[in-house]
Amino acid sequence: MLIEGIDLRKSYRVGWLKKRVVRVLSRVSLAVSEGETVGIIGGSGSGKTTLGLILTGLIKPEGGRVLFRGRELDGMNVRERKSYRRKVQIIFQHPETAFNPKWKLLRSLSEPYRLYKIPFAEESVLKQIEAVGLGAEHLARYPAQLSGGELQRAAIARVMALDPEFIVLDEPTGMLDAITQAQIIRLFQDLQKDKGVAYLFISHDLELARLFCRRIYRLREGELETLGPEKGV
Ligand SMILES: Nc1ncnc2c1ncn2[C@@H]1O[C@H](COP(=O)(O)OP(=O)(O)OP(=O)(O)O)[C@@H](O)[C@H]1O
Ligand SMILES: [Mg+2]
Repeated sequence: MLIEGIDLRKSYRVGWLKKRVVRVLSRVSLAVSEGETVGIIGGSGSGKTTLGLILTGLIKPEGGRVLFRGRELDGMNVRERKSYRRKVQIIFQHPETAFNPKWKLLRSLSEPYRLYKIPFAEESVLKQIEAVGLGAEHLARYPAQLSGGELQRAAIARVMALDPEFIVLDEPTGMLDAITQAQIIRLFQDLQKDKGVAYLFISHDLELARLFCRRIYRLREGELETLGPEKGV
């Protein structure tokens, strides 16, 4: 198994004095194997992003465990942790949050190479951006000078530079029109075919999830329910 969440629990403290506790995940278990796409749907506030953040190690659950390639996150040594942080990535609905607005794209896209000490050449960045359907001209622009769809492609290029094995796609097409949405989904599928990357696809949209995912779950009241591809809503 590539990545597993076992009995994950998470609540947040809310309210003026942070006294009220809202339970978001009660006992959520989920496993994703190499190269597959699993869908999570659920209403707003049902905990989808929370689950994605836990699997990518960006927030800690109160209970339960996350395993990457059979190794528990908490027990990882420095080398394993480094590999996990590189191989497990997340893409958000609003790509502009992933970019420094004052940097041209070339600089933002070279950043992962520096951060993870990957041998870097401007040519690699160019190849990366061409693989998502953009070109050299986009590298010379600021984030505000790209459309939402183009910027999401750039965010995908940036993540793909790390050669990830698992990506949480947190409503990655939520702000796009239907045609652009279909193009971006196609891009995810092509990248998967090419690189064998696995996805957790988070969406409000069951129909879209059905087109893209092999297994689909609904998050409701802190628990996951299985929705077979053929099962009605
Ligand atoms: N840091 C936080 N502190 C307090 N409450 C939070 C925090 N993060 C999320 N929540 C609450 O937890 C619940 C689940 O949030 P989450 O973002 O996981 O939902 P979601 O399913 O991704 O929703 P959406 O579809 O709107 O993106 C919400 O009620 C939210 O307000
Ligand atoms: Mg969310």
